[in-house]
Amino acid sequence: MSSKEESIKNVPNHVALIMDGNGRWAKSKAKSRYFGHQAGTNNIRNIIEIYASLGVKYLTLFAFSTENWNRPNKEVSWLLDIMTKTISKELNELNASGVKIQHIGRLDRLTPKLKKAIEHSIELTKNNSGIIVSVAFDYGSRYEILNAVKMIVKDNISPDSISEELFNNYLYTKDIPYPDLIIRTAGEIRISNFLLWQSAYAEFYYTDVLWPDFSKDDVVKSIKSYSDRVRRFGKL
Ligand code: IPE
Ligand code: IPE
Ligand code: MG
Repeated sequence: MSSKEESIKNVPNHVALIMDGNGRWAKSKAKSRYFGHQAGTNNIRNIIEIYASLGVKYLTLFAFSTENWNRPNKEVSWLLDIMTKTISKELNELNASGVKIQHIGRLDRLTPKLKKAIEHSIELTKNNSGIIVSVAFDYGSRYEILNAVKMIVKDNISPDSISEELFNNYLYTKDIPYPDLIIRTAGEIRISNFLLWQSAYAEFYYTDVLWPDFSKDDVVKSIKSYSDRVRRFGKL
């Protein structure tokens, strides 16, 4: 680790990343959106390894939202296809680096191939002790919350026993601590249905850098920005 990185005193335990801007990146190069998604997906493993090397223990990656199904069919099938191929291409290296892969979101609407690839990556890496990477694919926070409510009702839980802790245990993220830092690339300053419950006390970091260009320097900048902040959680 370089001295620049060693000077970071307060590394977030859990970073959640909204990987946005693939389309604009492609447009800026007069290429198709497919090319942008390919470049963006190719950047993922490198960024995982950089966060891991800085001491981040949990990384959650927003790859496809419940609303992204509303894009043109061609783009949706590109996205599913690229994710499927990337998992098989990168899985061995990720596994060798000790990465533990998890999924948050719905699996029931994915292509059988993508569902299988995700399930296989979870199974293969389940005993790894390195960074825990949760891939949010077909993830939407409102759906997650509604789903939790439905399961609580089905389980006949009495209203008086519904605590924040119990509610959290019905979310996809039940085994993951709340995010400390939420990063969004590509200049948009919005949450787009990502981790609404979980982000209650997260710090936010926005950058104009488009996701395929997000680099080690940007990772370090994001962590340094977090490190300088004072979190109060409502206290004095
Ligand atoms: C992020 O890039 C990937 C997904 C949302 C699936 P975009 O495709 O949203 O890129 P822009 O926002 O159009 O540039
Ligand atoms: C958010 O990006 C979802 C992902 C990065 C997967 P979008 O590009 O879908 O968000 P909006 O539509 O600009 O809010
Ligand atoms: Mg976008």
